[in-house]
Amino acid sequence: MVEISTSFLSLETYNATKHIYNLEVAHTDYFHIDVMDGKFVETNTEERMKGYTNQIKQISNLPIDVHLLVEDIEKYVEEYMPYMPNIITFHYEACKNKEEVCNLISYIKDKGVKVGLAISPNTQVEKIYEFLPFIHMVLIMTVEPGKGGQKLIPETLEKVKKLNEFRNENNLEFDIEADGGINLETMPSVRDSGVDIAVVGSGIIKTEDYKETIKLLKE
Ligand code: DX5
Ligand code: ZN
Repeated sequence: MVEISTSFLSLETYNATKHIYNLEVAHTDYFHIDVMDGKFVETNTEERMKGYTNQIKQISNLPIDVHLLVEDIEKYVEEYMPYMPNIITFHYEACKNKEEVCNLISYIKDKGVKVGLAISPNTQVEKIYEFLPFIHMVLIMTVEPGKGGQKLIPETLEKVKKLNEFRNENNLEFDIEADGGINLETMPSVRDSGVDIAVVGSGIIKTEDYKETIKLLKE
C-alpha cells in the first residue's frame, strides 16, 4: 500500500494545530515540511514551516519528512536537527558537483537522520544512480518545485518506473517518493508507477474530510 505524506504548503493559516490533529486521526503516515528559502525557489516558507514543525512536535509523534528546497543545505539541516526529523531530503540541483552531494549525504547520515535526494522534473534520473546505494529515499518531483496546487507532470512517472527497475536489478532498498499534483484523480497512475510514498498537499488540505480523503487515497 502507498504511504501518504501530507504537505502543509497549501495551508493558509499559520496555526496548523487543528489540521495536525485531524491528519493524525485521518492516518497520514508522515507530515511533509516544504522548507523554501526564496532562492532555490522564489517562495520563502521558512517561518511558516518552522512554526508548523514546532506545532507538530508538541502534539504528534508521527514522523516528519523534511523537504529542503534551499540553496544552503547545511544551514537548514542544522536548523531542523533539533526537531529530530525522520528524514531530510535535499535537491540534486542545489549541489555544485558530485562531491557536494556525497558530502551532504554523509553529513546528514552522521547526524543519525535518514537522507533523501530529490530531483526536479527536468533532471534525468540516471544522474543520481551512483548515489542510490547510500541514501534512504529518492524524491521524484512530479511538478516544478516551489508551489502547491499544480498539475502532475505525467512524464515524471517514467522516472519512478526506471528507479524501480534499477532498485530491483541492483538489490537496493531505498524508498521512492513522488511529490506534487497528487490527488484522488492522479493517485491511480502514481500508484501504478510503483511509488512507496506519495506526498499530497492540496489534494488533502483542500478537502472537507481528511479521513475520507486519505482512506480513498490508500485504497
Ligand atoms: C512543491 C512541494 C510539494 C507541494 C505538494 O514544491 O515540494 O510538496 O507542497 O503540493 P500539492 O500536493 O498541492 O501539489
Ligand atoms: Zn515537497
